[in-house]
Amino acid sequence: MITREKPERNTGSELVTGIGELLTVDPARGEESVLHDAALVVEDGLIAWVGHADQAPAADRAVDVEGRAALPGWVDSHTHLVFAGDRSGEFAARMAGQDYQAGGIGVTTRATREADDQTLRELVAERAAGAAAGGTTYLETKTGYGLTVPEELRAARIAAEAADEVTYLGAHLVPEGITAEDYVDLVCGSMLDAVVPFVQWADVFCERGAFTPEQSRRVLEACRDAGLGLRVHGNQLGHGQGVALAVELGAASVDHCNFLSDHDIAALAGSATVATVLPACDLSTRAPLAPARQLLDAGATVAIASNCNPGTSYTTAMNFCVATAVLQMGLSVEEAVRAATLGGAQALRRDAPSDGRPAVGYLAVGNRADLHVLDAPSAVHLAYRPGMPLTWAVWQEGRRAL
Ligand code: NIG
Repeated sequence: MITREKPERNTGSELVTGIGELLTVDPARGEESVLHDAALVVEDGLIAWVGHADQAPAADRAVDVEGRAALPGWVDSHTHLVFAGDRSGEFAARMAGQDYQAGGIGVTTRATREADDQTLRELVAERAAGAAAGGTTYLETKTGYGLTVPEELRAARIAAEAADEVTYLGAHLVPEGITAEDYVDLVCGSMLDAVVPFVQWADVFCERGAFTPEQSRRVLEACRDAGLGLRVHGNQLGHGQGVALAVELGAASVDHCNFLSDHDIAALAGSATVATVLPACDLSTRAPLAPARQLLDAGATVAIASNCNPGTSYTTAMNFCVATAVLQMGLSVEEAVRAATLGGAQALRRDAPSDGRPAVGYLAVGNRADLHVLDAPSAVHLAYRPGMPLTWAVWQEGRRAL
């Protein structure tokens, strides 16, 4: 098994030079955010300098990437890594023409409850390691396949060991044997109390077959009152209230966004709620692609995430998600890279320093040193050569992770 254990922290400074094309994604650089013949210096886990290689300061060590392209590590702001079991049969049925049904979540819930702690921990660690090997340097993951107090608590603890940000998704599906109203009471009550020490965010699947807008509001308000940031799974299976609710409650993101009205798009554009699109999920469910192009054109902030989960998107491959956003959703390579780095950081409210932690998602002095070097001379190769193993090196928090 690949592990996600981090090597010892490097001491001293490290110069990464010979970068043929550097997508800094730094908003402060405006139109000048792409540098050529570039370098950067990493020290104490942070970026200490960014600029043209011929102006680089001396450092204790140097790595020459020989003309390759580099960009910030991916910020994957939407995954469901804490699960056991396999739903390839459901996937095959879908490819044969069946629609995606939220009820499949119950199948994974049963399999997850059957897995012992060590097995579940190893499965999550393996998925997180796979994400890191694909250039992901900042990762969110969720509970949501436990759906009882002890199982959601176990999921939150295990998630917190593997991910940078953890989201409480007790409101993923109403489990068998309990009414929706009683389950919402539990999600807003003792289940929330149990998980709160381990999570930063709360989410709700606001969709037909899952939670109504009224139930979703109750969950979100209770979680907000408990001090959690909010996110919403919304507008995945049809038009609905998910986006409106997310915007009204000031959620950091609303994720999926496949079925948006003009009003939803305008509401997102006029808000700080990030529209997170999940290209691999859209392909795996054969859903209409989320309208990322229209969202950007309207002025909304867009994030791209993998949505790794066993039902609708069994992948952590952000390179693939970015390629799909370019090839199928009409984004430019730069727009897609921005959405999968800075956009993800904005969806997690981590694009500025907070609580003594550096910003992530773009390459600027003082930010976390999360760097993804491609085995290609330019980032356009991400879409030009989709599916190719382009991740060549990764620095995570200043440490060489690959
Ligand atoms: O993001 N939409 C809800 N949750 C997951 C799917 C979960 C499942 O089917 O297991 C998603 O697509």
